[in-house]
Amino acid sequence: MKPKLVVGNWKMNKPFDDAQDLILDIQNNLKDRKLQTEVVLCPPFVYMELITDIAEEEDSQFYAGAQNCSEHESGAYTGEVSAEMLASMGVEFCIVGHSERRKYFGETNAVIAQKIDLLLKNDIVPIVCCGELLEERKAGKHTQVVQQQIEESLFHLQASEFERVIIAYEPVWAIGTGETATPAQAEEMHAFIRSLVEKKYGTEMAYNTYILYGGSCNPKNAADLFMQEDVDGGLIGGASLKADDFCAIIDAGENVLKEN
Ligand code: PGA
Repeated sequence: MKPKLVVGNWKMNKPFDDAQDLILDIQNNLKDRKLQTEVVLCPPFVYMELITDIAEEEDSQFYAGAQNCSEHESGAYTGEVSAEMLASMGVEFCIVGHSERRKYFGETNAVIAQKIDLLLKNDIVPIVCCGELLEERKAGKHTQVVQQQIEESLFHLQASEFERVIIAYEPVWAIGTGETATPAQAEEMHAFIRSLVEKKYGTEMAYNTYILYGGSCNPKNAADLFMQEDVDGGLIGGASLKADDFCAIIDAGENVLKEN
C-alpha cells in the first residue's frame, strides 16, 4: 500500500485570526512526528502566505495548495489568480474542477483541461476532482459521468504530464451532506478510475496514480475508506476546519499504512 495523501480544502471559511489559529493548531499537532502520510492545506488565496511561509521550512509537515486558479495565463481578468502567481508564492498543489466550481461558476471539462495545462506548465500538481450527481447515480450513470469527466479533462495529457496529476473522486451527493459513500461504493469507483488510467497509460501509471476520496470524510469513517485497496487518501472539506478532526484523519492514514 502507498502512503496516504490527506488534503484539507477550507473552501470559503474562517476570518483571518481563526485561520491563523487553525494552522498553528495543525502545526503543533503534527510537529516532531515522523509522518508517512503527506498533507496538503488549501486555504483561501488571501491566507496563502500563512501556509507557504511554514511549508517552505525544512521540517514542515505540510505543503501549500490552492483551491482554484484561472484558466488564463495572465492579463485583464479582474479578480482572477493565475497558476504562475501561485507557483511564484511557493504553492505546490491546486484543486481543479471541484463540483462547486462546476455548479456555481460554470466550469466545464474543457475549462478544467486548460487549468490543468497551466498548472503543469508552472510545476504545480493538479488535484483534479470528478464525481456524479445523486440523480446520475440513481440512474446508474455514475461510472459513465466520471469517465467522461476524466477523459475530457485529463486524457489529452502526455504520460510525462499525467504522472504528475492527482485525481479526487467526490460524489456530489456526499459533499457537505454528512452522507458518505460506503467504502464499497468508493472502492468500486476508484478501481474503475484506475482501470481507465491503465487502459490509457499502462499498468505502472495506474498503480502510481493517487486517487483520493472526498465527501463527508471524517475521523469516524476515514480508516474504513483508507483501507480500501484503491483509496489513496482523502480530500477533506468540513472536517479540515477543525484541527483535531483533520489530524485524526491523518492518524487514520498512518494507522492503515502500518496495518497493511
Ligand atoms: P466535505 O467536502 O468533506 O465537507 O464533504 C469535501 C470537498 O468538497 O472537498
